[in-house]
Amino acid sequence: MNFDFDLIVRSIPLLLLGAGVTVQITALSVGFGLLIGMFVGMARLSVLWPLKMLATVYVDFIRGTPLLVQIFIIYFALPIVVGQRIDPFIAAITACSINSGAYIAEIFRAGIQSIDKGQMEAGRSLGMTWAQTMRYIILPQAFKRIIPPLGNEFIAMLKDSSLVSVIGFEELTRRGQLIIARTYGSFEIWLTVAFIYLIMTLTISRFVDYLERRYKTDDKH
Ligand code: ARG
Repeated sequence: MNFDFDLIVRSIPLLLLGAGVTVQITALSVGFGLLIGMFVGMARLSVLWPLKMLATVYVDFIRGTPLLVQIFIIYFALPIVVGQRIDPFIAAITACSINSGAYIAEIFRAGIQSIDKGQMEAGRSLGMTWAQTMRYIILPQAFKRIIPPLGNEFIAMLKDSSLVSVIGFEELTRRGQLIIARTYGSFEIWLTVAFIYLIMTLTISRFVDYLERRYKTDDKH
């Protein structure tokens, strides 16, 4: 076979456009996921059993079913119920956020549980409410510890966002498919797509390393 280097050069602008969309989906999904995850993570530790049960069911359901099927449910099944088509972008963000939220909830739960329970007792004995102690004492300490797993989740989501290509949403993977459909350059394009993903994930992991160093103060417990 002859390697068409020129095809790569010509395709790069379109692929980079797709990469931008991939970054957008990932950032939005992990952003919403963080919000969902923080509350669900705390709910999992709650003494109020209905709250705890709801959070557990959510995490179990999302982690126990493939993201691909969740995307299909939101994009194809949900519109039948609500009687209206859902924009692929909204469907993609919704599916990825709900998915990421479940994984991040577990990260938060583990992070909160890793903080000595004396910290909560100390806060409460100073007259702070549960919520205040959580907000000002526990979460700031937990957050430092969960930076590495959150970084993992970001990288995982960036790669898994390629699944939204199945609903025709034009992120990096879908752009690659479309270019191949026109040019038959499977080898060149998939290699380039992989390379672009690699550059993005490496950038994130270096950034997470930096954050970790920055927030690493001298707490040794
Ligand atoms: N690949 C797994 C699935 O299909 C996980 C997808 C979600 N990944 C994530 N980091 N939230 O369910």
